Amino acid sequence: MEIIKVKDSTEGGKVAFDLLEKEMQKGIKVLGLATGSTPETFYEQIRNSDLDFSNMISINLDEYVGLSSDDKNSYHYFMDEKLFNHKPFEATYVPQGDAEDLDQECVRYDKIIEENPIDFQILGIGRNGHIGFNEPGSSFDLQTHVVDLTPSTIEANKIYFDSEDQMPKKALSMGIASILKSQKIVLMAYGESKADAVKKTVQHEVSNDIPATILQKHDNITIIVDEEAAKYL
Ligand code: GLP
Repeated sequence: MEIIKVKDSTEGGKVAFDLLEKEMQKGIKVLGLATGSTPETFYEQIRNSDLDFSNMISINLDEYVGLSSDDKNSYHYFMDEKLFNHKPFEATYVPQGDAEDLDQECVRYDKIIEENPIDFQILGIGRNGHIGFNEPGSSFDLQTHVVDLTPSTIEANKIYFDSEDQMPKKALSMGIASILKSQKIVLMAYGESKADAVKKTVQHEVSNDIPATILQKHDNITIIVDEEAAKYL
C-alpha cells in the first residue's frame, strides 16, 4: 500500500487528479467512481480541468434502494451534479436504486462490470471501515448485492436527508470481489472521524469485520490521507 499524506482535502483532490491524469495518458478506459463528501475535491479538479472523458466509461459503486436517479438524495443525482453534467462520458453507470427487481438489477450491474473491467477505482471509506456499501461482516467474495445499512452508516449519512425516516436503510453495492479486480485503486480519507478506520485498514489483520482491510491484498493501491485521518498511523 502506498500512503500519501496531504495537508487537507483540497490537496488530496489534486493528488488524486494527478494520478488519474497519468493513467489516462496511458490510455485507461474505465473509471470506478464513488460518492460522499470525500471525492468532492477530486471531482472539482476534474470539472476545472480540460481533461477529455468523451471516450471514457464510468461505473459507480453504489446507490440507495428506492431512490430514483432524479431524487436529490440519490447518488445518481450527486454524480450528475458533481461530474456528469459537466464532463460528457461515452457511458456512465450507476446502480438503479428504484429498480423493480433488485436481484435482476444486481445481475445487470455485474454484467456491466464484467464487460468493462475497471482500470482506476476511486474509494472513500466509512467510519466503520466500509467501502462502497460493503458493511462489516460482508463476504469478500460478493459481487453486486443488496445491503442492510448498519446503524453506524445510518448515523453518518442521515445528515444528508431532511430526517432519518427519509434515509433508505438499504442500498445496492458493488461487491468487494469486483472492487479488488480493479487495476488500480485510490482510496481517500479526510478528517478525524476516519482516523480509526484508516489505521485499521493499514495495520489490522485482514478481517471481514473491517472490510477495507482486504485492500492490503491489492498490489496497486494508493491511500491519500490528510493529517487528521492519518493521526494514528
Ligand atoms: C458512504 C458511501 C461510501 C463512502 C462513505 C464515506 O456510505 N457508500 O462510498 O465512501 O460512505 O462517505 P463520506 O465521504 O461522505 O465520508
